[in-house]
Amino acid sequence: MPDKPHFRTVIEPFIIKSVQPIRLTTREQRAEILKAAHYNLFKVQSRDVLIDLLTDSGTGAMSSEQWAAIMRGDEAYAGSPSFLRFEAAVKDLFGFRHVIPTHQGRAAERILFSVMCKDGDVVPNNTHFDTTRANIEFRNAVAEDLVIEEGKDPSNLHPFKGNMDVAKLERLIENTGADRIPLCMLTITNNSGGGQPVSMENIKAVKTVLKKYGIPLYFDAARFAENAYFIKLREPGYQDVSVKSIVQEMMSYADGCSVSAKKDGLVNIGGFLCTNDDLLAQEEKDLLILTEGFPTYGGLAGRDLEALAVGLQEVVDEDYLTYRIAETRYLGDHLTEIGYPIVQPPGGHAIYIDAKALLPHIPVSQYPGQSLSVEFYLEGGIRTVEIGSVMFGKRDPTTGEETPAAMELVRLALPRRTHTQSHIDYVIEVARSVYTRRNRVRGIRITKQPEFLRHFTAEFEPV
Ligand code: F0G
Repeated sequence: MPDKPHFRTVIEPFIIKSVQPIRLTTREQRAEILKAAHYNLFKVQSRDVLIDLLTDSGTGAMSSEQWAAIMRGDEAYAGSPSFLRFEAAVKDLFGFRHVIPTHQGRAAERILFSVMCKDGDVVPNNTHFDTTRANIEFRNAVAEDLVIEEGKDPSNLHPFKGNMDVAKLERLIENTGADRIPLCMLTITNNSGGGQPVSMENIKAVKTVLKKYGIPLYFDAARFAENAYFIKLREPGYQDVSVKSIVQEMMSYADGCSVSAKKDGLVNIGGFLCTNDDLLAQEEKDLLILTEGFPTYGGLAGRDLEALAVGLQEVVDEDYLTYRIAETRYLGDHLTEIGYPIVQPPGGHAIYIDAKALLPHIPVSQYPGQSLSVEFYLEGGIRTVEIGSVMFGKRDPTTGEETPAAMELVRLALPRRTHTQSHIDYVIEVARSVYTRRNRVRGIRITKQPEFLRHFTAEFEPV
């Protein structure tokens, strides 16, 4: 391999070939926009957002090779060569016997849990993502979060805060009975726990316990490449192993996975479901035909499958991953320097600000995360998302009483290959300004809300 130059600056390993203009509104305009959106940033039009850090899902830029592949897309209803190229790309990396395309991650989840769960079953995970939890609960099963204690402490510097507590897993299996646990999941990286990785050692330990009880292991693998890169950076013995080989090893311990391809698939839409179980695959494909489409396209167009096949090869490129993780760390380190309490160490796809620690004058009942998120928009047109009690607070439908979420976080998620360093520098400047005025940020109250997944549509007003 040729020597890499010894320069410290990590550059964006691409040039920009197509651009989309963004514009800054005035503070007065943003105050009006917020009012009209009832202080819910999901209701703000993207043309009114300058830097959109709402999500890293489906918001990234595709490469010239992906756009070229799109032209190769074959739109045959059955037996498209685009499916074969997609299937080959997934098998090359993941190695599972059956690959089932879906329109996005939650469609794969719905099919997976519909086929595998019965009423009253229990599905453990490090931390369930909200759609995963909702799909399990919709199937009348119970979603259990078993992340290690270090993973719940924002300032703890543990290198693999996405790890599952193996002793808790074993206790859960003993207490519940293995026959009531149809599968165990590991979310890589652990999105709801701060985008934190799971170590290879933990994957193996979880697999060992599950094997003893005959329970299959599935990955929620939306950010598999970022997880593998953290293993390369942080886990002894993997420094000289390629990210692709690390992904292959991770997957070798699992029986299947559900994937939102809108993250590490480097595409704007797509997902898939994998399994080694022939019988399950047949049931899954039957259900797929009912709601998504024929098994050689799922809910996707042939061109989408082509773009995904290329994305899966590009995402394990280590120059890309070096830049990706450096960008996130750059934002995290600067926010820390300003004084922001963030989930440490910076994760793969996002920085999570601990709003409860930053705004101690706002009680949890007045949603410090939502208040901070609104403030970032008002200050600089930056859209972030609350991951706290608005999203995860439990509300008793009869009394209206609320149990708050474990943490009150604000997530700044970075779309892939989309922003330059000066965009991030702008975010840091806005954050500095918000920080100096933090004592004057006001709380917020809910004026209207639906029964579940309320964060998408709830209405608020400042207290
Ligand atoms: N699993 C994880 C870990 C996710 O982060 C997501 C989506 C899904 C499953 C569902 O996939 O959106 O393709 O249906 N996360 C996005 C986010 C929405 O903003 O974190 P989907």
